Amino acid sequence: MENNVFVPHSEVEKQLETAKKVRALIGEGKKAYISTFGCQQNEADSERLMGLACLMGYEKTDVMEEASLIIFNTCAIREHAELKALSKAGALRKLKERDKNIVTALCGCMAEQPHRRAQVFKSYPYIDIVFGTDRVHTLPQMVYDRLAGGKTHAVYVSDLRHDEFGVIAEGLPVVRESGYKAWVSIMYGCNNFCTYCVVPYVRGRERSRKSEDILAEIEGLVKAGYKDITLLGQNVNSYKGDLSFPELLRKAASFEGEYWVRFMTSHPKDASRELVDVMAACPNVAPQFHLPMQSGNNRVLDLMNRRYTVEQYMEKAAYIRKMIPDASITSDIICGYPTETEEEFADTVKAVRAVGFDALFTFVYSPRPGTPAAEMEQLPHDVKTARFAALCDAENEKAEELNRRFIGRTLRVLSDGKAEGNFVGRTGHNKIITFTLPEGVDESVAAAGKFVDVKVTEAKAYTLHGNLLK
Ligand code: 5AD
Ligand code: SF4
Repeated sequence: MENNVFVPHSEVEKQLETAKKVRALIGEGKKAYISTFGCQQNEADSERLMGLACLMGYEKTDVMEEASLIIFNTCAIREHAELKALSKAGALRKLKERDKNIVTALCGCMAEQPHRRAQVFKSYPYIDIVFGTDRVHTLPQMVYDRLAGGKTHAVYVSDLRHDEFGVIAEGLPVVRESGYKAWVSIMYGCNNFCTYCVVPYVRGRERSRKSEDILAEIEGLVKAGYKDITLLGQNVNSYKGDLSFPELLRKAASFEGEYWVRFMTSHPKDASRELVDVMAACPNVAPQFHLPMQSGNNRVLDLMNRRYTVEQYMEKAAYIRKMIPDASITSDIICGYPTETEEEFADTVKAVRAVGFDALFTFVYSPRPGTPAAEMEQLPHDVKTARFAALCDAENEKAEELNRRFIGRTLRVLSDGKAEGNFVGRTGHNKIITFTLPEGVDESVAAAGKFVDVKVTEAKAYTLHGNLLK
């Protein structure tokens, strides 16, 4: 397990003790608010931050204006995500003017970028604490320093080189957003350096949690009634504990009880046949495979440093279809990578149609400072957005066609309860499904967090509709 850095247990204990000191300082009735941008990894980090905040005596709130501790957990994957966070952070000024004792923090991937840190320091003086992705576990100390030491505008990021830093802290409290869906990070960071991507710079090198810690967490979740558990990592296939990822997945799916295990993300170069075989063999592994293709042209894939060809991607997708004929395969595509020609983009549309994705996450290429692709000659914005629109159109058609395969079938659905008069839930394929209850059936049978059987009657591109079976 090279490059793994585990936070010593004593350090975690110290933070938990410091949390109690903060509790004594702040008194009763204070609230904490966390705004999370970006991916599931950030959501998972925020659930730990909220766990620590609650240990410090804050109560969770979804209303920023009533909070005494406000944290923005930011994303840097595209400029759009950064601008969203910065614009929302502007609202902190007023709150801080009203009550200077409010503690404000900005963390996550943006905080790891020196140019963004400088900008926050200069333009957002009302943000007290800026901390990096490897400092989540030190929240109690940072808040304590701010409250007891009067330290404002402190920056806590690792001073190690980005290829060295990386910590794993076990034993932190967690306050999960849902009582039946859970994120479980199995690894952090990324070693792949796709040329467009900022993640390896802001989240450091790959490091894996111990399988025993991961499995104990999952077992605890299953026992506590969690039904939909997603294993998280930038590239779960390069998990390096004492088990391989397929072995870990098999164990994660073998606890007693009805629940689903999902995972994301898989890098196509590393997604193995063994992994697909485990999925096919384990009923608790949801039949959903997120396999980002990024481009359907080999020259572009090579420039992106993806290290697979379209043909190899197709082979993997075909193997998934062979072993799990009904699996839902989803993907990410970037439109308008530097120097991508119309013909090369047409290859992508062709490849997307050929695979047939159940859902496609389509992105306009966004240059990320410090990444190799940002140094290349860029395509005009309108070319990128036109390609984005064309790909969305192609995918909408395909997704609707694929969804029709469910009409007339009965699917197991994990209910999210009633929203706006309709019951809604997710299938194992991770499709959103709305459903109605037959006359006389008590609504509690389809309460949020319950599995139900739904017969599908209608299919649109991104939603299904059906009736609950008695
Ligand atoms: N511009 C646009 N999309 C990007 N992604 C990653 N970096 C960029 C970028 N610079 C997309 C990739 C990745 C997904 C999470 O975000 O498709 O799989
Ligand atoms: Fe970014 Fe590539 Fe790592 Fe995914 S695999 S996080 S796209 S560098």
